Amino acid sequence: MDRWQTIIEPFRIHSVEPIRLTTVEAREAALEAAGWNLFNLHADDVLIDLLTDSGTGAMSRDQWAGIQHGDESYAGSPSWFAFLESVTALFPFRHVIPTHQGRAAEKILFSVLGRPGMVIPNNTHFDTTRANVEFTGAEAVDLVIAEGRIPSAEHPFKGNMDVDALERLLEDRGADVPVVFVTITNNSGGGQPVSLRNLRAVRAVCDRHGVPLFLDACRFAENAWFIHEREEGQATRSIPDIVRDIASLADGMTMSAKKDGLANIGGWLALNDDALAEQCRNLLILTEGFPTYGGLAGRDLEAIAQGLREVVEEDYLRYRIRSTAYLGEALDRAGVPVVKPFGGHAVYLDARALLPHIPPLEYPGQALAIALYREGGIRGCEIGTVMFGRHRDGTEAPAAMDLVRLAIPRRTYTQSHVDYVIEVVRWVAERAADLRGLRIVEAPLALRHFTARFEPLPA
Ligand code: F0G
Repeated sequence: MDRWQTIIEPFRIHSVEPIRLTTVEAREAALEAAGWNLFNLHADDVLIDLLTDSGTGAMSRDQWAGIQHGDESYAGSPSWFAFLESVTALFPFRHVIPTHQGRAAEKILFSVLGRPGMVIPNNTHFDTTRANVEFTGAEAVDLVIAEGRIPSAEHPFKGNMDVDALERLLEDRGADVPVVFVTITNNSGGGQPVSLRNLRAVRAVCDRHGVPLFLDACRFAENAWFIHEREEGQATRSIPDIVRDIASLADGMTMSAKKDGLANIGGWLALNDDALAEQCRNLLILTEGFPTYGGLAGRDLEAIAQGLREVVEEDYLRYRIRSTAYLGEALDRAGVPVVKPFGGHAVYLDARALLPHIPPLEYPGQALAIALYREGGIRGCEIGTVMFGRHRDGTEAPAAMDLVRLAIPRRTYTQSHVDYVIEVVRWVAERAADLRGLRIVEAPLALRHFTARFEPLPA
């Protein structure tokens, strides 16, 4: 296969969904109505939707067939056993607790483990993970390696945990740390992978301090592929084998099946500790459902069971990672500032570097995201001062970076869609000096990026 340069999608199309071509004028009107917030758009006014890779992928023929096999028995459904078998084939934890999505698993686990005075380290907490930790009164700390904080720093495993910093934290405050988390791949750090070697080192530190290690494993298959490609001695191993090796280093995991479950909804919490599992199951019954379906229908359990078999296929992963890099490489070649190396599920544009004339408090990421929508109907997501700039005391300060994430839904867009995205981003980047910042006219106290309304600043 390496003989040919063209990345081909390792599937052909079986059922199509129309996308609507709109004019700049129509999109301008849609933006106006949405208060210049892309979360407020009607999704059918979007041409290429790169807002998230979560739950937005296309399911396969065999997943849709699985949907038809869904058995909706309240307890002990065959679909539950199919799900359990697929999950434990990769992650052989003693207890698997199904949830409607990843954050439900986080909510349950941290409700049991978190309280004021506790501290929970991670390479980088994803927003919902951090929010669920903080909701219990515990503190969420990020201990990614130094390279992981620098957009332009090249490192093959930029998601790695800073093992020395973890060791220091556990020496100082070990008794206050109920669990150590590692997120694979590190989404908030740009979809960057964690190496097996780093996971082993983290495991050793956890063992010395008697603290359990959990994975936030949303993008485990993409992480395993990076290990296969980049880590010494791993190229000849199968992906499932690498995944089981990762799992063997942990005591449990939280998972969003909306990413590497290749499903539109779903998740789980898995762990070995019997007593902790019992406490978590009791909470599951309060908010999600009976332990053999959690927050899911039997048909969802079937879609995930099949998705987990497909996501570890090498042809799929090679295409997945290559096609994300294809977008990143083309933009990089065109001189558009992008975060490097390219992660598994997204390419991040550095809006602060592209728009030096727009100060952070006039939201360069938002300005760029809006321009991509206005010009080309492409919806990305601002990850910057709109998202992180407002502090709890009501003050505002620039976020560490102002990025726009172009997240790639799985198996959904073709190479020509991506070529179109490249063309639009280049066109906008060439006219970057014409873009204007915005001001916020209305915003809630927390998580303002979802609902804030903006107004473009005059030229
Ligand atoms: N952990 C990570 C690393 C995630 O990326 C996400 C979701 C979650 C947990 C929560 O899972 O959405 O199923 O409740 N990330 C999505 C995103 C929303 O766009 O990056 P969930």
